[in-house]
Amino acid sequence: MSSDALQTLRDPSLLVTAGLVSGQWRAPNGMTFHVYEPSSGTVLGNCANLGRQDFLDAIDGAESGTRIFHQGTTAKERGAILRKWFDLVTANTEDLATILSLENGKTFAEAKGEVIYAASFISWFAEEATRSYGDTIPSSYANATVLTYKEPVGVCGIITPWNFPAAMITRKIAPALAAGCSVVIKPPSETPFTALALAKLALVAGVPADCLHVVPTRDRAASMTLATDPRVKKLSFTGSTGVGKILTRAAAGTMKRVSMELGGNAPFIVFDDADLDVAVEAAMICKFRCSGQTCVCANRLLVHEKVKDEFVLRLVKQVRTLNLGRGIDEGVTQGPLVNAAAVNKVDAHVRDAVSKGAILHTGGKRPEGLDGYFYEPTVISNANAQMEVAVDETFGPLAAIFTFTSEDEAVRMANATEYGLSGYFFSQNIGRVMRVARRLDCGMVGVNTGLISAAESPFGGVKESGMGREGSKYGLAEYQNIKAVTIGNLQN
Ligand code: SIN
Repeated sequence: MSSDALQTLRDPSLLVTAGLVSGQWRAPNGMTFHVYEPSSGTVLGNCANLGRQDFLDAIDGAESGTRIFHQGTTAKERGAILRKWFDLVTANTEDLATILSLENGKTFAEAKGEVIYAASFISWFAEEATRSYGDTIPSSYANATVLTYKEPVGVCGIITPWNFPAAMITRKIAPALAAGCSVVIKPPSETPFTALALAKLALVAGVPADCLHVVPTRDRAASMTLATDPRVKKLSFTGSTGVGKILTRAAAGTMKRVSMELGGNAPFIVFDDADLDVAVEAAMICKFRCSGQTCVCANRLLVHEKVKDEFVLRLVKQVRTLNLGRGIDEGVTQGPLVNAAAVNKVDAHVRDAVSKGAILHTGGKRPEGLDGYFYEPTVISNANAQMEVAVDETFGPLAAIFTFTSEDEAVRMANATEYGLSGYFFSQNIGRVMRVARRLDCGMVGVNTGLISAAESPFGGVKESGMGREGSKYGLAEYQNIKAVTIGNLQN
């Protein structure tokens, strides 16, 4: 491992570069892939590159793991294991954040925030484990009754993204383990070390070795095993809509249950009755969090014509205060993007918009003097529906401002996308708040806030943003089957 910052780890053993199959750390000789530090573009370390056989072995182990885990533990015991894992993650926040910040690039403060966010899913589902109730249903047959049981779906294939290397793992596997399932995780090849460190702590907490497997790989065909193997009963994926469709098609071959948390193209509407200070602060969080690389980031800022100039002025002022640099360094408030392709995409969106009439207010280029994958936080106005940014999620630090003149027009523009993950709007009119919240076609709506993600709130989309809900009381059900038991002839 090359980075100087890794020398500061309090527990260097958290830095694991091998895969995890049935409690064994696997690192086949010479089979590795590079993991880069986006802040410099240099190699951070090498991770074991596992293959199809490792997936098959992990699924073998997971099959017996889920049987033993569900039948051999009570919900309360599973909750206690999760609680212990939460305590360990919390105690190791600084180390986990260091690893996360180095491999992902996000600032250390954001990385710490993500570890706390990740831990919140573990504690949430530690509690939900014991609150999983069935029903007693009056039967339409004489002398009979119907009971329902919630049973674990079985082996779960979990494929997670690089933008939240910790939280997207815990948001999926904490409910799976709470339900009594076992998991085989394919972590992102950009950020595998956070996943491996979390898995190490999970084993220490008492998650049975056969219930938790982490198979890092660059081999896409090998990772498709999770979508095709009949022993995997559930596939949960966070990532692009394109890949989500491929995985869903593959999973259909064996009728797996799927949860797909996919792309977005979030509208962020500022009405003329909005508190502009609130709206600008929310735009900073919602647009520039993780350098614009979250699927709930605002992609289209729709601002009422009457307040547009003032909004642009205030937003640009705030954006110019962002301090771009290596995420792990003190004082840095905006890190790099994940790789060169991500930078090229933001630049292409900016060029395309400017060529079609957008006004560039700040940013709009790669910064000088920084070696990694950086792009200046950028604000453009005069955006329109013909621009790429209107139809395609930039996934980077570009705030594109469109204008509208009426509520109907704003809602029409907001919904004019095949995506439906999140949407935001700002208004101080209670009637409008209630109306527009219902009219937006998305799974999550932020009203007068840019922060909507939390363990207790159902996370997920509609339309091509996917299906299923994570977190919240609904997140556990994604990993459970309902069994109906009809008991007849009760007359005696
Ligand atoms: C994501 O970008 O996939 C998740 C963002 C969040 O949980 O807030």
